[in-house]
Amino acid sequence: MSAAGKPTIGIFGAGWVGLVTGACFAELGHPVVIRDVVPERIELLQAGELPFHEAELGELLERNRHRVRFTLDVREAVEGSDFAFVCVGTPPTYSGDADLSAVWTVLDELPQLDRRFVLVMKSTVPVGTGEKVRAGLEARGLGQVGYVSNPEFLAEGSAVRDFTRPDRVVVGAFEPRDADAVAALYADLGAPIVRCDVNSAEMIKLAANAFLMTRISFINEIANVCEATGADVERVAEGIGLDHRLGPHFLKAGLGWGGSCFPKDSLALKQLAANSGYHFQLLAAVIEVNELQKRRVIGKLEKHLGKLRGKRVALLGLAFKAGTDDMREAPSLVLASRLLAEGAEVRAWDPVADATALIHGADFLDTYAEAVRGADAAVIVTAWPELRELPTAEIRDSMRSPLILDGRNLLDPAAVRALGFVYEGVGRPWSPADVLPETPEPQRAKHELA
Ligand code: UGA
Repeated sequence: MSAAGKPTIGIFGAGWVGLVTGACFAELGHPVVIRDVVPERIELLQAGELPFHEAELGELLERNRHRVRFTLDVREAVEGSDFAFVCVGTPPTYSGDADLSAVWTVLDELPQLDRRFVLVMKSTVPVGTGEKVRAGLEARGLGQVGYVSNPEFLAEGSAVRDFTRPDRVVVGAFEPRDADAVAALYADLGAPIVRCDVNSAEMIKLAANAFLMTRISFINEIANVCEATGADVERVAEGIGLDHRLGPHFLKAGLGWGGSCFPKDSLALKQLAANSGYHFQLLAAVIEVNELQKRRVIGKLEKHLGKLRGKRVALLGLAFKAGTDDMREAPSLVLASRLLAEGAEVRAWDPVADATALIHGADFLDTYAEAVRGADAAVIVTAWPELRELPTAEIRDSMRSPLILDGRNLLDPAAVRALGFVYEGVGRPWSPADVLPETPEPQRAKHELA
């Protein structure tokens, strides 16, 4: 307990979820002890630095320095704590199941304490994990330790806001007193609290992500049908989203979803179902649609440019979404490797993400203007706001052929076409006039020859 009577919170895992959770609880007045197993990470955090970029997180930790401690010592994280939040990674294994080894390590490392505290699972885990942890606690003689499933719903780039202004807080517990204690931690946020059993709490997290992915794959398929029929998916999404039963969110058509959560959580839920003997057909289709969506750009490029061998293609934006430097499962990785496999020359740019170790054979440029110079096509892969400034007469003249494939529907098609570009978005109508002028093969852009 702090002097103000706020319970102390121990956190296992100084990753993205652990740091955001710790910083936000500190902001709410709790003493927080964050424990990690990687010495370099703890040293970095003790020196006041962050291992990754997340809006507002740095300021929050700085402002609450006096309340937050970082440690390698498992005892320090638990001994004075009323809660031990598990915020460790649960990456996919080769089979697609979640790898829970870091969770089991936390369980194995818990010191024998007579005092009661509550172990709170924030990490995304398969349904049934809580019951296994409960059994593991009993087996270790830690039957007095409470257990609560309290999944996180934080999106990268807006995690601090998502924590402090949640749509809901899910609390799944075996015992009502543990649910009460965890719910009380969030009382000041004024959000609805969904109380349920542990299995249901675990499923809420997986189902929420699966539903969001379903919406994206759905609108991407609608976009593909729009392309075949001449409708405009942007207007269609607007018209769908105004129905209060459907809502406007996660209806942005594009090159598909990526990131550290959706790809792994979709596989984990699919495998969870399969391991229980159920074939989750809809989710399997949602995943497949997403895989195909990343590759559709190749067909569009070929439609405009013919064979891609020797063609120069600029990939604008590499991170899996704007506002982050995260390259995990980014659609750009699939796109770049497909292009390189076709023999295209790939010129890549991102304002923050460093993909040099992930994409071999591409050239990385410091500005988007350099990336598109002499290019046969510019592909907008990530919706970085600065790319709204891409279509200018100067950029058009610097390209070998003025083709923009807008994978995030970021630009205004009419304005781009008025500047003399050939433009194609995702699920937006294109006209037969959208064809490139004939360019003799060996000729490069004027400035390139100069
Ligand atoms: C996602 C969820 O939004 C969070 O609620 C959840 O807590 C988190 O996963 C997690 O499980 O930890 P995140 O992966 O950070 O968060 O990013 P999102 O903003 O949800 O975007 C995911 C992907 O979907 C991105 O590649 C984005 O470009 C794509 N997307 C999103 C679309 O293609 N269209 C949309 O309309 C929305």
